[in-house]
Amino acid sequence: MQKEEKRKLIRAALEARQRAYMPYSGYAVGAAVLMESGKTYTGCNIENASYGATNCAERTALFKAVSEGERKCTAIAIAGGKAGSAPADYAYPCGICRQVMWEFGGQDLPVFVAKSEDDYREYTLGGLLPYGFGGENLV
Ligand code: THU
Repeated sequence: MQKEEKRKLIRAALEARQRAYMPYSGYAVGAAVLMESGKTYTGCNIENASYGATNCAERTALFKAVSEGERKCTAIAIAGGKAGSAPADYAYPCGICRQVMWEFGGQDLPVFVAKSEDDYREYTLGGLLPYGFGGENLV
């Protein structure tokens, strides 16, 4: 993936972060997924007064893509931190999101965890979720 493509995906995640609905935690997360079709979908965290009903940014983005007919994610960018300022730290995806990313991205999925377009760390999903569980295990 070209550097400018990575920056564009991170920019989309940072923009989506502005739309986070997080009245309870004050922690705003944005995600952007690039799908095999070449389209990008974004998501933010969406909290709920019944806390367990909260949806993370990564899953919002992926579920939007999959519900539009997409099946294969080729890269994901994530940015999170206290609302009102730029991310102070790298925001790593939670375990449930890693599992959902595994379903639609697999172990080689590039994951960009970003503070800004210029300050990000790059991983593969297999590095963040070793020995992941997938459909092929259901035999
Ligand atoms: N959150 C995400 O959006 N993604 C993650 O991977 C971790 C956590 C959100 C959920 C909740 O709205 C807030 O961050 C604090 O947990």
